[in-house]
Amino acid sequence: MDVESKATNTVWHCSQVTREKRGALLDQRGCTIWLTGLPSSGKSTTAFALECHLIKLGFLAYVLDGDNVRHGLNKDLGFSAREREENIRRVAEVAKLFADAGLIVITSFISPYRKERDFARRIHMDAGLDFAEIFVDTPLTVCETRDPKGHYAKARRGELKGFTGIDDPYEPPLSPELVIDTAQYSPEAIVEQIIDFLVSEGQLPLSVRLLTQSVGRAR
Ligand code: ADX
Repeated sequence: MDVESKATNTVWHCSQVTREKRGALLDQRGCTIWLTGLPSSGKSTTAFALECHLIKLGFLAYVLDGDNVRHGLNKDLGFSAREREENIRRVAEVAKLFADAGLIVITSFISPYRKERDFARRIHMDAGLDFAEIFVDTPLTVCETRDPKGHYAKARRGELKGFTGIDDPYEPPLSPELVIDTAQYSPEAIVEQIIDFLVSEGQLPLSVRLLTQSVGRAR
């Protein structure tokens, strides 16, 4: 979502530190891994498992999670279409900044609208930062059976209005970089799939694949 700038009389200041210098310090390249899917699809579980694994391997990763960000930065936003758009716009901008700072950012938001996810992709591309959209493609029936927060049950009883998947839309990605299936695979197996993808994209070195497999085996 493009928002008209209300700030006038501002100028862009250039840092004396290049992205490459920051990357060299951390020995990694910043990027954003954008997880999208229905509520209870497994986004947060996947995001935090991936973050934990990357940190174990020595990469600086950080999760921006929907529920968490809505406790702080976005606590002024609810769940109308307009507010969900603003939620994602802000998160996309924060992810871009963190990726520019050199972090491997993992976002975990329903992000139900294609337009907003495309916006997130576009601002990363424009800044020369890698961006990968991962569709956490868990069927609604499975999400509803899990329902760890009891939200689906509430929505079915009519006590929670505008709940994604029940009476609010979710637009699945048309061409995500990766689709994961949390109904079939364990969080460890999914982390391995994402690591494989990041290695194949050249985002992570090849050695990480072997280390991931041995970590998987050690468990
Ligand atoms: S998004 O649609 O704007 O991307 P976001 O990922 O930030 O949503 O927040 C989703 C979380 O908010 C859910 O995990 C759930 O705990 C909570 N939530 C509360 N009300 C709703 C609602 N109406 N629809 C979806 N999630 C809701």
